[in-house]
Amino acid sequence: MAEHAVTVPVAVRREVERLRREIVHHNQRYYEHDAPEISDAEYDALFRRLQELEAAHPGVRSAESPTERVGAPPAERFTTVRHTLPMLSLANAMNEEEVLEFDRRVRRALRSDGAIAYVAEPKLDGVAVELVYERARLVVGSTRGDGTTGEDVTANLRTIRSVPLALRAARGAPPIPDRLEVRAEVLLSKAGFQRLNADRAERGEPLFANPRNAAAGSLRQLDSRITAGRPLEIFCHSAGTITGVRFTSQWEFLATLAAWSLPVSDQNRRCDDVAAALARYQELAAARERLPHEIDGVVLKVDDLALQERLGQVSRSPRWAIAYKFKAQQAETTVLQIVPSVGRLGTVTPIAVLEPVAVGGVTVRNASLHNMDEVTRKDVRVGDTVLLERAGDVIPYVVRVLREHRKGRPRKFRMPEKCPVCGGHVVREEGEAAYRCINAACPAQRKSRIRHFASRNALDIDGLGEKLVDQLVERDLVHDFADLYGLTAEQLAGLERMAEKSAANLIAAIERSKRPALDRFLYALGIRHVGEHLAQVLADRFRDVDAIMSASEEDLLAVHGIGPEVAASVRRFARERQNQKVVARLLAARVAPQAPAPPTGALAGKTIVLTGALETLTRGEAERRIVAAGGRIGSGVSKQTDYVVAGADPGSKLAKAKKLGTPVLDEAAFLALLGIPARE
Ligand code: IVH
Repeated sequence: MAEHAVTVPVAVRREVERLRREIVHHNQRYYEHDAPEISDAEYDALFRRLQELEAAHPGVRSAESPTERVGAPPAERFTTVRHTLPMLSLANAMNEEEVLEFDRRVRRALRSDGAIAYVAEPKLDGVAVELVYERARLVVGSTRGDGTTGEDVTANLRTIRSVPLALRAARGAPPIPDRLEVRAEVLLSKAGFQRLNADRAERGEPLFANPRNAAAGSLRQLDSRITAGRPLEIFCHSAGTITGVRFTSQWEFLATLAAWSLPVSDQNRRCDDVAAALARYQELAAARERLPHEIDGVVLKVDDLALQERLGQVSRSPRWAIAYKFKAQQAETTVLQIVPSVGRLGTVTPIAVLEPVAVGGVTVRNASLHNMDEVTRKDVRVGDTVLLERAGDVIPYVVRVLREHRKGRPRKFRMPEKCPVCGGHVVREEGEAAYRCINAACPAQRKSRIRHFASRNALDIDGLGEKLVDQLVERDLVHDFADLYGLTAEQLAGLERMAEKSAANLIAAIERSKRPALDRFLYALGIRHVGEHLAQVLADRFRDVDAIMSASEEDLLAVHGIGPEVAASVRRFARERQNQKVVARLLAARVAPQAPAPPTGALAGKTIVLTGALETLTRGEAERRIVAAGGRIGSGVSKQTDYVVAGADPGSKLAKAKKLGTPVLDEAAFLALLGIPARE
């Protein structure tokens, strides 16, 4: 029979189960407790391993597996879901008086003289959804839609790591109900939003206006694989239909959700009366800037569910709740100028210089317009009045032009053809939104490259700040990184605001930077796409600057974690004569990048590629053993590969190894190398 057609070795089944448990555990550490126990890379390794096993053994696949969060193939369109209970909206209060009036209304309706206890929750600025669990399994997830019917976004919701696919029973908590409908907010953290937009800017894709739009756009993807790549989060806040369990208060309900592993905000508070609720509002308003997520107010809910029941609803909102909104962090101001600014990689970014204005407690003087497409789409022109908003963190954002205030017909901004700093050509590369100055010697690029080189996570040269770098470049004292190492105290003493003491300190700091870790050195070079993580990957693998400069694209691609884009970028950097010279001069100036501590063990420094299935070890065990013995796992066979271990049904890797003459080990030889006695 079909179910018996696929048999899975017990060892595989065990490993899969263990991996799933571990991944669920680490998700909880990360999302519920905000206290991860392992690095992202380690998490990714667990995740990839599970994906591999599931791909190799269809018999272990399960809809509950954490890998199911990576997204399903695109749907044609969303089907609709009818909510069993309508998803209501909330009445708003704009000031304290309106909140006090709400509290009086509640007491009048309940004919109560006593204080009413409320739960004060942050009003999360995201997208409202409903999750439906049947016998603890997530069966459907939908958007709010018009309140009665929403869209079925189950596949997308499943990709959100903090959405439990199965609820966890908890001691001390009520049993999980047969059917649980829970309403929640899907959102992006401020940091997640910034990361997403930075990636999009880099790729020349249109930017999201704010975290809420980004969350909505991500959730409404027909291709859930796209959703899976967005750092979405979820927080539950209210109930739909629940069968089998009765709660007495909202506070108890929220605590129980958390016990069942459904995320709830850690900012929820129970308040004994309306005065306490108002105080909590003030607290959250003050903390708002520092919170990881955008909130736009506080929702007050009568805590006692029996009282909620008695209060009922009016039209589309409950009588037992109110949203007390924060004042908008928006302001209007005038665009004084639009100036192109040149960054480290020559990217020319249009910046709006603004009439200074206070938004959410800080004075804003300029705002990035990101790229030419954004300027065109919003049609921002000099003299325009614009609506500004502080989205996410502190970066101000031009929401739109207030066209009704436009006087006359101001000229459109045009991207200069010549770099405003060096006069070099500004070009737009095929398929990119960004315009770049292609003169690598452009002082603006030089300045920001040098700033990057000296920055904290690069060579960490204390005291080499922006103003100083500007002067050094403008006075022709420093053309490239290597020039830093030839600076003298006398040269520095001639600069503005440079006392003798600070000159000496700077020289000492430059001197101290001469033995950087290899990965920091690589990061400092500013190779496109090589951030801190990839710099480390390269350092671990090649262990030497020259080896990296002379690595072929194939060598690079053979490294686990390096893809074609990065490999091409490293090659492009290394081929460039100018870069070769700078690196050589740095080394000649006795900058000595330090290779990571050499691995020890039987396979120290060896790269091993596994292919085919082994009998006595799972793939994961084999990989862990190799790493423990000081070896590295290669993803593809290249000249850098020391051994190929071929199990049953090896793939094309074996053929490649034969072609290149790479030594091939069978399982027994591999075990012998690891010093593991072969089992009979
Ligand atoms: S309670 C009838 N609690 O605000 C109760 N809603 O304007 C309605 N929202 O659609 C939901 N944070 O998407 C509730 N802590 C919170 C909330 C919250 C944000 C959203 C929710 C709802 C909208 C109502």
